[in-house]
Amino acid sequence: MKDLVWSNTLSVEVDEIDEDHRRLVDLFNILTHSVAEGDSPDYQEAVLDELISCTVWHFKHEERLMLRHAYEELAAHKAEHQDLINSALELQQKFLQAGKRIENEDFEFLEHWLTEHILVADMKLGAYLAEVM
Ligand SMILES: [Fe+2]
Repeated sequence: MKDLVWSNTLSVEVDEIDEDHRRLVDLFNILTHSVAEGDSPDYQEAVLDELISCTVWHFKHEERLMLRHAYEELAAHKAEHQDLINSALELQQKFLQAGKRIENEDFEFLEHWLTEHILVADMKLGAYLAEVM
């Protein structure tokens, strides 16, 4: 599994959001390494939990900025966040039920989960915030 590499393509041009996203990318890489290196299932569980918790926190951060700056698409963006959280929680359930094993397809899912929202919805939000902040 290759590392996700931060690059300008992922930047939404708002520093405080980019910082959060970098943290999430780091955690994703920590998770792939922990599986590749055969770290204990409990350790992998802790990393997955940290990734999800950080994401929940980060979404609240974005939602606060959207409110603060009267972003018109707040409701749709927030709904997308909720869907993303739900799918991550499903993956976490699957992980726990499978005896704490993460499959390759889960990583593909997580990579897509992480980058797709940044590249579409967050780019749009970033462009708006960069104008008004
Ligand atoms: Fe977002």
